[in-house]
Amino acid sequence: MKPPVGGRPERVSLNVTDARLRRGARDIPLRPKDVAILQLLIAHQGRLVTKEALLAAAWPDVFVSDAVLKVAINRLRTALGDDARTPRLIETRHRRGYCLVGKISLVDAPALEAPEAAAVPRLPEARAIVGREAELAQLEEWFAHAAGGSRQLVFVTGEAGLGKTALVDLLLESPNVRGVRVGRGQCVEQHGAGEAYLPILDALGHLCRGLGGAAIKRRLARHAPSWLAQMPGLLRPDDAVNLRRRTGNATRERMLRELVETLDVLAREHPLVLVVEDLHWSDPSTLDALGALARRRDRARLFVLATYRPEETAAA
Ligand SMILES: Nc1ncnc2c1ncn2[C@@H]1O[C@H](COP(=O)(O)OP(=O)(O)OP(=O)(O)O)[C@@H](O)[C@H]1O
Ligand SMILES: [Mg+2]
Repeated sequence: MKPPVGGRPERVSLNVTDARLRRGARDIPLRPKDVAILQLLIAHQGRLVTKEALLAAAWPDVFVSDAVLKVAINRLRTALGDDARTPRLIETRHRRGYCLVGKISLVDAPALEAPEAAAVPRLPEARAIVGREAELAQLEEWFAHAAGGSRQLVFVTGEAGLGKTALVDLLLESPNVRGVRVGRGQCVEQHGAGEAYLPILDALGHLCRGLGGAAIKRRLARHAPSWLAQMPGLLRPDDAVNLRRRTGNATRERMLRELVETLDVLAREHPLVLVVEDLHWSDPSTLDALGALARRRDRARLFVLATYRPEETAAA
């Protein structure tokens, strides 16, 4: 690793559990997907990690294009103070993948399985979150309305680092919500229009891996086959191929109909929480889907919670 101009190389470490990067004296929060990518690069330090392996580590259940990975790598380079043209840490191996050429140590990392099966690290544990009692009580009240059958779409807004995600974590860990089915999806910064429905695919994948996941997957197979077809991580390879053949290239409209119907079916059976993080980076289809879910008149025990930074939507 080349030292930065005029100094010794900076010590860099990744704390997987807390999703934080330490660079010298700096402590930088990372997104869970970026942690999964960096963790895999660290596990294979000095060796090429293919784009496919990195995509599988961060988006285990969803088809995602290389462009999304590129954006995540750029974000990591910014956090690391690295430069794609003269990399000290992450080197691009043209068309194939990336290689960690410098040293980053791991702190408190769960063991990695095979690279293909590398799991997204678990979310940071609850820290002492202070001064959010009123906001939490309000969210709990709205969740109670949703659990009673009156669907709710709630936005948690505030500038970067203000504590939106921390508040959502608090709600999900609160006694009345713990044990409820939760699907959590992350919007990622993308160039252009972005991949349609990426955060919702992410959230459905999360739902299928969580409480009652097998039953949820059966509902998707029945009511939302074109969604399940895009989630190869949840299917046996043969089933994935067959399903894709059967559903073809589903239109956005058909996907929207399937989604709305499936979430209604699921939310009639049990309360359901859908979290969409960082909506300011959303693709247009995801915004349409949230709008359609909110406009439905039928009763459903559905609680949709979206976070966003208003200053970024104003700039868009
Ligand atoms: N009320 C609070 N008390 C103590 N720590 C907090 C509080 N709110 C947030 N934090 C801490 O501040 C950091 C940033 O919070 P968080 O990630 O929730 O922000 P965010 O609004 O979701 O940011 P972004 O827009 O980047 O997603 C985290 O380490 C979190 O634990
Ligand atoms: Mg956040």
